[in-house]
Parts: sequence; structure tokens; C-alpha cells
Amino acid sequence: MSPYLSLIFSVFLYLRVYGAAVNKPNIIILFADDLGYGDLQIYGHPTSSTPNLNSMASEGLVLTQFYSANPVCSPSRAALMTGRYPPRTGIWPGVLNPNSIGGLPHNETTIAEALKTAGYKTGMVGKWHLGVGENGTYLPTNHGFDYYLGIPYSNDECPCTICYYPNAPCNSPLKIPCNPSFVSCPVFENTDIIEQPAHLPTLSTKYSNAALGFIRANAGKNPFFLYMAFTHVHQPQFSDEDYTNTTLRGPFGDALAELDNEVGLIMSTLKDTQVDDNTFVFFASDNGPSLRVQQQGGNAGLLRCGKGSTWDGGMREPAIAWWPGKIRQGKTAELAATVDLFPTIMSITGAKPGSAFIDGIDMSPILFDSKPSNRESYVYFPAIYDPNIGYHAIRWKQYKAHYYTSGGIGLCPDTYPDIVCRGNYSRRSHDPPLLYDLHQDPSEIYNLDTTRYADVMANIDAARKNFESTFEYSESQVQRGTNEKFMPCASPGCSPFPSCCKTSSQESTLWTSYSSSRV
Ligand SMILES: *[C@@H]1O[C@H](CO)[C@@H](O)[C@H](O)[C@H]1NC(C)=O
Ligand SMILES: *[C@@H]1O[C@H](CO)[C@@H](O)[C@H](O)[C@H]1NC(C)=O
Ligand SMILES: *[C@@H]1O[C@H](CO)[C@@H](O)[C@H](O)[C@H]1NC(C)=O
Ligand SMILES: *[C@@H]1O[C@H](CO)[C@@H](O)[C@H](O)[C@H]1NC(C)=O
Repeated sequence: MSPYLSLIFSVFLYLRVYGAAVNKPNIIILFADDLGYGDLQIYGHPTSSTPNLNSMASEGLVLTQFYSANPVCSPSRAALMTGRYPPRTGIWPGVLNPNSIGGLPHNETTIAEALKTAGYKTGMVGKWHLGVGENGTYLPTNHGFDYYLGIPYSNDECPCTICYYPNAPCNSPLKIPCNPSFVSCPVFENTDIIEQPAHLPTLSTKYSNAALGFIRANAGKNPFFLYMAFTHVHQPQFSDEDYTNTTLRGPFGDALAELDNEVGLIMSTLKDTQVDDNTFVFFASDNGPSLRVQQQGGNAGLLRCGKGSTWDGGMREPAIAWWPGKIRQGKTAELAATVDLFPTIMSITGAKPGSAFIDGIDMSPILFDSKPSNRESYVYFPAIYDPNIGYHAIRWKQYKAHYYTSGGIGLCPDTYPDIVCRGNYSRRSHDPPLLYDLHQDPSEIYNLDTTRYADVMANIDAARKNFESTFEYSESQVQRGTNEKFMPCASPGCSPFPSCCKTSSQESTLWTSYSSSRV
């Protein structure tokens, strides 16, 4: 190469590399808790109030066949973070508790770790639910996040105290809505507890302030990844005075309206900081609605059953992809899932995924090119995974075969009208499997005769064999047991434990000034 050409080449290379670093898109995942397929206005709910999600949907792409990886929280979130079906990650069966010894294993690569390696600033706000462990070893800041603020598990895994401003009690319809033997819910900032017990009426403001502060600190300076995992709309419902009694839909509707406001604040901050055209935002939920809290839980719309069940109501979720000028506007019925976000984000950002087997499939063709999904099949793992039983159902194209069904374990009332969803409807096997055409029958009502669908069954069997040839599960982290001493306590060594665990008022004041300084 001549010196002249070589100079041009170097300048070109410099611009490419430098330009690419500056222009790497920001990534935001907005993840709701126990929000059902039928809960948003855009999915047909008549009395929800979700103006900000409506706008996000009208500017972006609404997915109508998008799945979470599990009908309960911890396994679903493990899959979102790693792109791997939950049993591979060890997050099974069921969920982690504040006193759990285990958590997401450190050898798993999270989206945050991969993006941090690629030069991103990484922040998380909200519900983690992938473990706390001894000395907080499993908290987000030990899994690739530079910054974390939130209650690291569900708001019913602690005594219920105040849910409404200024200090009105929670009013769940459950006799025992929360776990009174656990420590009061802590709000962590990184690995420090800044508020215990968490004051739920002002929690959403804390979450928004932390998220907005993180965006403002990085917008235009560093590419950033924000994982915003709302505590809403898990029971017990709560809201601040601006939202309580403001919707037609009662406590759930008020909580959803408050979540929607958090979404709106994030979206307007992207516009204010002029990074909206360079930010990929994806909204979804971890699992279906909590039917056991009746009107105070969500709604799966036309889908069957809810949280805890592998019927579609337990796992098919509202989902919106947004990136103005990049992601097409409209609606798609293409098949996709939370595990697909990991490889999609790697593909958008050029980050490297690590060496673990990834179940996710890059969604780019659906998002950017209006092309068919590269995903042909999907595997439904139950809330209570048992290695001797394995997955419960498999979807191939529009067909779904159930090899096992069970009701919503403890998560659906025993008196629920549809018997198969009931909490006391125990697991049963189906041979031949129950077969449904989800395009013609999304509610899974009309069981098809498998002998008449022999060609479909052959394709489903091929998808099963293909999946099974790659599948291995990791030892259960949930079954490692519990240790009361690992429960997060702001005043270590105090007694009587755990009710004595509290932050001093001084620390609360510190938080107030800290939080107002960020906005
Ligand atoms: C946790 O902290 C305690 C007290 O500092 C220490 O004795 C213990 O070894 C730590 N455990 C781990 C796993 O770091
Ligand atoms: C909301 O309505 C309920 C039921 O009418 C009432 O008990 C409660 O005080 C109201 N809360 C607020 C903050 O207005
Ligand atoms: C579940 O409980 C309901 C209400 O008590 C009862 O009527 C029903 O028979 C039970 N179903 C099963 C499968 O045990
Ligand atoms: C992490 O380690 C466990 C236990 O050795 C193993 O089963 C699992 O496959 C490992 N995960 C990864 C991503 O390497």
C-alpha cells in the first residue's frame, strides 16, 4: 500500500472505530411484574389507563406472540438476563426467597456483563429476584451492573406494612398476603441498604429518579444499558397519592397507571437528552397475571389461565419494541421470546455473548426488516421444574402440544371457574399430547385429534429431538436451601432479628437529598 493510501485507510479506520463507539445504541429493557396479556389498553383492556405505553406502541412495534421463559418470576428473569432456558441457569424450581443461599451462578454471562465488556455503562433499577446470598454476592452489581437501586425481590416476600400515602396499610384480598417471617423489604443502592422497610408509596419515585439520573449521567457520553424492572404490578398493590383512586380499575389499575408514568418519564428523558433516535427500548413482563389476588391481579385477556401455569395465559406477554426510525411501526404476530433479547442485543451492539449455549434467536429480521421470525419452536418450562419430567409443552409454528399440564400451583384459587387453571389441579400427563392451533384458537379450547395432524406431530417431534440433543440443566440454586442470617439487614447484629432490621432516619434523609439531586 502506498503511504498516501495507507494514510487514507488509517483515517477511515479511525473514523469507523471511533464513530462506532460513539454511535453504539443505548439499550433499555422495561420489565413489568405479573402483567398479563390482556392488561394494557393496546391489548384491549377497557379500563386500564396507560397513555405512555399507548404512545410507545404507536411509535413502535407491538408483538402479539411473545413469550416469557417461565410462568413465575426468578426462572423467567434468569432466562431474560442470559438468553438461556431457566433450568440451564440453575434457577429452578420456583423462586428465590430473601433467605435463599443460592442465586444466579457467577459463571452465567448476563446481558449487563456482555455489554460492560463492550464499553457500556450498565445500570439496573427495581426487582432483581436472582438472589442476594451471603454478603450480597448475587446482587446485580456482582452480575455486570455498574449501578443498582431497588428491592431485590418481590414486595410480598416481606411483611406488608404501608402501601398507600402517607401511611395507609396494604389491602390485598389474600388472608396472608405477604411473608411476615422475612425481613422488611430493603431498598438497596449497589450493595448498601438505603431504606428498610421500603416505603412503597414513594418507591416508584425512587425508581424513576434513579433511572432518569442514570440516563442523564450517560446520555451522549457513553453507550448505556438500563434494565428497569418495575415492582409494579405484583401484589400487594401500592401507589402514591397522585395515583391512588385515580383509575376506573381499582388498586391494580392505579398501580399500572403509576408504572405507565415511570415509562413516560423514561421516554421523555430520552427525548430531552436527545438520544431517542439512538436507543432501543423493549417493554415486556415476566409472567402472566396473578389470579389468586382476583381483581387486584392482572388479566390474561383471551388466553387461558395465568401465573404459575404453562397454558398461554401464564407465559404469553404484552411486548413493545421501540427505536424511532429503525424499528418499523405497527404490529406483528411473529413468534419471539424473552430469551431472544440476549442475542438480539448482542447483534445490535456488536457485543460478544460468551461461550455458553444460547437458546435465544436474534429477532432482528422481525424488528428491522418485516421478515418472518427465525424462531420456529418454543419450549414451555413449568414453574416447578422437575428434571424427571422436563418441559411441559412445546410450540412449533402455530401448534402447541402439551405433554403435561398443571394448574397455577398456589397462584390460582381452587375455585377459579376454569378447572385446569386451579391451584389444586395437580400435574397430569397427556399421551397423546393435547394439541391446539394457537392461530385459530389462541384460548386453547379446541383440542385437535393428533392422528389427523400426523404431519404436525412429526414436526413437533423433530423440534423436540433437536431441542433435547442440546439440553442440559444445571444443579438447582433454589434447592441449596436457606440461611436466615443471609437476609438483608440494615442494622446487622440487632435483635430481635429480623424485625429489628431498619435504616436510621439519618440514612433516609441522606437518601432524600441524594435522590432529589439526581433529577
Ligand atoms: C461475609 O462477611 C462476613 C463478615 O465480614 C465474613 O466473615 C464472611 O467470610 C463473608 N462471606 C463471604 C462469602 O464473603
Ligand atoms: C381510596 O379509596 C378508598 C375506598 O373508597 C378509601 O378508603 C381510601 O381512603 C382512598 N384513598 C385515598 C388516598 O384517597
Ligand atoms: C379443588 O377445590 C375445589 C374447591 O374446594 C373443589 O371443588 C375441587 O373438587 C378441587 N379440585 C381438585 C382437582 O382437587
Ligand atoms: C456453571 O457451572 C455449573 C456447575 O458446574 C454448570 O452446570 C453450568 O453449566 C455452568 N454454566 C455455564 C454457563 O458455564
